[in-house]
Amino acid sequence: MRRIRYQVACSLDGYIAGPQGDISWIPAEPEIDFGALFAEFDTLLMGRKTFAGLSLTDPEYGQLYAGKELVVVSTTLAAVDYPHVTIINELSRHAIEPLRQRPGKDIWLFGGGELFRHLLELDMVDTIELAITPVLLGGGIPFLPAPGPSRRLTLTEQRWYEHSGMVWLSYQIEPAATSAS
Ligand SMILES: NC(=O)c1ccc[n+]([C@@H]2O[C@H](COP(=O)([O-])OP(=O)(O)OC[C@H]3O[C@@H](n4cnc5c(N)ncnc54)[C@H](OP(=O)(O)O)[C@@H]3O)[C@@H](O)[C@H]2O)c1
Repeated sequence: MRRIRYQVACSLDGYIAGPQGDISWIPAEPEIDFGALFAEFDTLLMGRKTFAGLSLTDPEYGQLYAGKELVVVSTTLAAVDYPHVTIINELSRHAIEPLRQRPGKDIWLFGGGELFRHLLELDMVDTIELAITPVLLGGGIPFLPAPGPSRRLTLTEQRWYEHSGMVWLSYQIEPAATSAS
């Protein structure tokens, strides 16, 4: 089964974007090979607000999205208006399970925090992979908005980057049933 991996850059105080949705604080990190990173996934799953901020035609990053299936969760977007995107209007295990069962690479839960919270409640996220950035934003869009579910995590990987000072932490998420014990 394909894994759903929530991979985001996060401030040290737990925000994925500043109060006005600002992400300019995310540093360029020359040691991270974005081509190789994107090649681990063939599907990008995201909430409507993250989709709204995506620059599919960006000269630097646009080609990284090419060939990926974009799956957007939204109660307000109509599939007919986005023929090149898969729109999920009603989030449920039933809606996500076929994506996971389909053969292919892992699914990148691209953001944001709100969608992550709802998928976590459904036990539909396998890993959290955070690029913790050495900045305090003081407020903004949380990586997991409260009230979120409680889950146990297992640290599976840690890396740090000298240039940016970012720390990369990967965790396996225990499902609700085992998190409670
Ligand atoms: N730091 C990073 O690496 C990173 C990565 C990605 C995004 N971001 C930032 O994160 C921000 C967006 O995150 P966010 O948490 O505010 O929003 P989000 O999760 O991207 O999108 C929220 C929207 O997704 C839809 N949605 C979420 N859960 C749903 C459910 N259970 N059923 C149906 N629709 C659902 C709703 O759309 P409707 O209102 O249409 O129903 C909701 O308003 C942006 O500023 C973006 O730039 C940062």
